[in-house]
Amino acid sequence: CALNRPRAKIAHVYRGTFMHSTQDTTLEIIEDALLGVDTVGKVSHLLHSPKKKKKKNVNDFHALLRCSEFFMPGMVDTHIHAPQYSYTGTAMDLPLLQWLNTYTFPVESRFKDLKFAHRVYTEVVKRTLKNGTTTACYFATIHTDASLLLGKIANDFGQRAFVGKVCMDRNKSDYKETTQECQKETCRFIAELLNKKYPLVKPVVTPRFAPSCTGDLLGQLGAIARKNNLHIQSHISENVDEVKLVKELFPESKSYTDVYHKYNLLTDKTVMAHGCHLTDEELTLFSETGASLSHCPNSNISLCSGLLNVRNVLKHKVKLGLGTDVAGGYSASMLDAVRRTLDTSKVLTIQNPKHQALTFDEVFRLATLGGSQALFLDDQTGNFEVGKDFDALRVNVAPPGGPIDLILCDKPKVGSGALYKGDDRNIVEVFVAGRKVVPFMEPAAE
Ligand code: GUN
Ligand code: ZN
Repeated sequence: CALNRPRAKIAHVYRGTFMHSTQDTTLEIIEDALLGVDTVGKVSHLLHSPKKKKKKNVNDFHALLRCSEFFMPGMVDTHIHAPQYSYTGTAMDLPLLQWLNTYTFPVESRFKDLKFAHRVYTEVVKRTLKNGTTTACYFATIHTDASLLLGKIANDFGQRAFVGKVCMDRNKSDYKETTQECQKETCRFIAELLNKKYPLVKPVVTPRFAPSCTGDLLGQLGAIARKNNLHIQSHISENVDEVKLVKELFPESKSYTDVYHKYNLLTDKTVMAHGCHLTDEELTLFSETGASLSHCPNSNISLCSGLLNVRNVLKHKVKLGLGTDVAGGYSASMLDAVRRTLDTSKVLTIQNPKHQALTFDEVFRLATLGGSQALFLDDQTGNFEVGKDFDALRVNVAPPGGPIDLILCDKPKVGSGALYKGDDRNIVEVFVAGRKVVPFMEPAAE
């Protein structure tokens, strides 16, 4: 922790243990530190407290109490479907393509109804914030007005968010638009969302996935993203039947990745969910274009889609964050994504003992700084570097009525203990850009 001089007027100083990943370290824990937040919500300094550090001892109750609380960066959910929160956990018995047709498209069709959308979107924003998601990259539905409403709700509750109006001009059911409608409505969505000037909410160009888009539409969306310098999100190589279908629909392309590349949809502001079945050649294309992957382990297992080899993705120097993929995944909590990432990696080691399982520290990094890098936000969020926005969680391992008791061990690993065993009751405060957003301040009624 460098001694950094305050640069702007300081609004708050927080004292305690800070745990984060840095450019050079997977996990840095700074005990008894002081972190300053300036008047615009940025970290102004992070220094050891001037008092000498007291050595911890298992019999020193006060030392244990002190380390029962720590700050960590807010978590980044790089892939979540806000409308699907309405049926989370109720429909997980079909593989991807059948699952979409049977459950997902009929539910998403209901979001034409703004009242229903308001109810579900309010709940999903509150739930994810309470669970420590300070940044969420949302898919909405094909409905422009409901997608704008999601942007408003995220803004009102103070969550940092990317919001995508979903585009699809190819589907067996009526849940789609014409190519021209997709193009026109995407432009309207972008213009209206930007016009609201929400400080933390940005539009993201969102072709659902290649099977539900014509080449014509993919090309138009690539052009819109380029012209407006916008983020892009979609799905890739989640399930083997999907990969087969893409080969049939786009026979001229060398691979699934090549389809998106051809239509200028692979940029350094692109995040593609899943990628379980990508080849090394495709991962190289990700690395060359700077596009990133969102690893969604709960969904991959729940829909029996596949197991992503994160170690191999990292070896190819592809940026990677974690996602809940509600409701392919049944949990809206990024703590669940952390645990399932570790589980998936261990399963790969069981299958092949040469596979080097991910460590807790590595996965902590993916949930925070990795997610920020994947969303091209790491100049703003992801850790407590001076000059970044203060997006943070205050975690208490022993809150009144909470799920975890003090961990009585010689060297309390408070961080991993809380993240393995804890839940939203342990996340006692959430800050986004310096502002406390949990406990909630209910938005003013209109
Ligand atoms: N591929 C295309 N749409 C979806 C979706 O809504 N969820 C998941 N998991 N995969 C998809
Ligand atoms: Zn998804």
